[in-house]
Amino acid sequence: MLVDIHNHILPGLDDGPKSIEEALLLAKSAVSNGITHVIATPHHLDAKYRNSSLEVREAVAGLYREFSKRNIHLKILPGQEIHLAANILDELETDLLTLANSGKYLLIELPNAYIPSQTLEVIYIIQLKGYIPIIVHPERNKILRKNKQLLYEYVCKGALIQVTASSLLGLNGRSLRKYTRELIKHNLVHFISSDAHHYLKRPFLLKKAFEYVKKEFSESYVTYFCENASHIVYGTDIQPLSPISFKNYY
Ligand SMILES: [Fe+2]
Repeated sequence: MLVDIHNHILPGLDDGPKSIEEALLLAKSAVSNGITHVIATPHHLDAKYRNSSLEVREAVAGLYREFSKRNIHLKILPGQEIHLAANILDELETDLLTLANSGKYLLIELPNAYIPSQTLEVIYIIQLKGYIPIIVHPERNKILRKNKQLLYEYVCKGALIQVTASSLLGLNGRSLRKYTRELIKHNLVHFISSDAHHYLKRPFLLKKAFEYVKKEFSESYVTYFCENASHIVYGTDIQPLSPISFKNYY
């Protein structure tokens, strides 16, 4: 079982595939990466896109029918990449989708250029209501890149972290690779996912990313990341490695 917890495979909902044909090519790229389950996470509550839970569920069912017709052996489950917007806590009561119907895990995206003032409060309230926040691609956030200790604090407060396969592979530049490697070394990464958008421009890359982790870190990290992603599908608890602070670290 290999699960990708963050991708944009649903056609026509956001900046992912524009057509069913493109979505099917992306699905084939998932299968060739050994992926068995994709959790489709279209953008939600950001400046451009709103994708209600109903729309996502219908799109997932529609795309799964296309997979079945074409013998594409890939399970697809619903989710959302939820932007940390001012109204996120109101939506929490009404229309936010947990990953893979887990009733537990929520994928949260921060802006790239700053940290919203309510971030810690959102992390706290989400957990108070029984959910676990997963912060996606911290490597894209300018402040978190400069202040790794801040991310450590989010993890200590109960957030889980997902980095993008392409960042670890160096496709987004050397500094992002260095940063994601540092996070792994400090046990601040719980998931590696594709954030796939397009079968050529932003494909799945999980196979290469896990080969890289095996070579540069160890096979036990690969197992850890894969098992964590499986827990999302089962809705079970992750046992995170203890985070290591950047203060007094030699
Ligand atoms: Fe994304």
